[in-house]
Amino acid sequence: MTTSSTYDVHAIRAQFPILSREVHGKPLAYFDSAASAQKPQAVIDAQARYLSHTHSNIHRGVHALAQEATEAYEGAREKVRAHLGATSTREILFVGGTTDGINLVAQTWGRTNLGTGDCIVLTRMEHHSNIVPWQMLAQERGFDIHVVELNPDGTLDDDQFVQHLNRGPKLVAFTHVSNALGTVNDVKRWTAAAHDAGATVLVDGAQSVPHLAVNVQELDVDFYTFSGHKTYGPTGIGILYGKEALLDAMPPWRGGGEMIGTVSFENGTTYNELPYKFEAGTPHISGGIALGAALDWMNGVGMASLTAHEHVLTQHAHARLAEVDGMRFIGTAPCKAGVVSFLIDGVHPYDLGTLLDQLGIAVRTGHHCTEPLMDKLGIPGTVRASFGAYNTVEEVDRLAEAVARAAAMLR
Ligand SMILES: Cc1ncc(COP(=O)(O)O)c(C=O)c1O
Repeated sequence: MTTSSTYDVHAIRAQFPILSREVHGKPLAYFDSAASAQKPQAVIDAQARYLSHTHSNIHRGVHALAQEATEAYEGAREKVRAHLGATSTREILFVGGTTDGINLVAQTWGRTNLGTGDCIVLTRMEHHSNIVPWQMLAQERGFDIHVVELNPDGTLDDDQFVQHLNRGPKLVAFTHVSNALGTVNDVKRWTAAAHDAGATVLVDGAQSVPHLAVNVQELDVDFYTFSGHKTYGPTGIGILYGKEALLDAMPPWRGGGEMIGTVSFENGTTYNELPYKFEAGTPHISGGIALGAALDWMNGVGMASLTAHEHVLTQHAHARLAEVDGMRFIGTAPCKAGVVSFLIDGVHPYDLGTLLDQLGIAVRTGHHCTEPLMDKLGIPGTVRASFGAYNTVEEVDRLAEAVARAAAMLR
């Protein structure tokens, strides 16, 4: 089996220095991109070039380095705007990552708009990052959280979603792609339904932006957030997109540094314009620039080719792993992206993960920060293989053979 003839996975792999290393004396097969993707040389170089050639603090200096650094950072913001299809860079906030983006919305939009008697809608498949910030706020503000449950294949229960919409929620917050199941949700349709019911929509894009072309205007979402490190960029940087009118109406969150207009003990503080109103303190400048380089890199590969390649890997993994005795897939939605989660009868996921590691195969085991989902399924966790641009069909074969061998040893 091969992926598209125009997709040269070996040329792509050659751009990732880490893929040439060995683990426990075996070639590394990295199937943990959903936790964090590896970095191509172009991203490593962009960050190193900035640090060795351009670094200065941004926005406030008249000297050449300050101006060059500002241009590079704001240039990266423009790359993100273009990648997401946003109208303006005023709608693109640099944040620490998906978790940080959701907390920002909870602490600003949420704190302003949610109170006693209100409700919001989340789903059973959310990552803790899209549950806990709302629970913390709900405890303080007294609103209710309603949860959309899943169908047996790991898709969301549409009928229950409609029932929850009939309660008039102020917010619907859900993930575009499930990190534990791989399910791709129909963001456009759900957003339209939520808007018809008068709700604001936040979408967690942590597992979609690495795999799919996303256009926030086409989806019409109000907030969309993702992490740099899952999109072949650095840790500690991410993006929160918000519609300008919403961001304008929201109070700032963190105070200090770049987010101010003027500060006075006598007259109080005024705030900067968007997007800076939400960017207090010196940001992760090199991270933002390298995130821009990561999006350039993904666009160089081509989002459609990347999606198609990973689709082949996911299908092939399902087919090959299905041959293993006692295999039970967790998440069999018709539309999946980049994730295969499974259990094997009589085998603890942790033991399987440990044996695979000895063979140089990196998978993740556990609850994947989705404890409410695992509880509902009545399982402690799964083994999860997740794919990136650099994985090959041969690696998937190696995974399936290793899983079969390890499972036979462990039973
Ligand atoms: C769906 C989803 N949401 C949120 C997060 C949190 O991302 P981060 O830790 O980068 O903030 C993750 C990370 O695994 C995720 O998969």
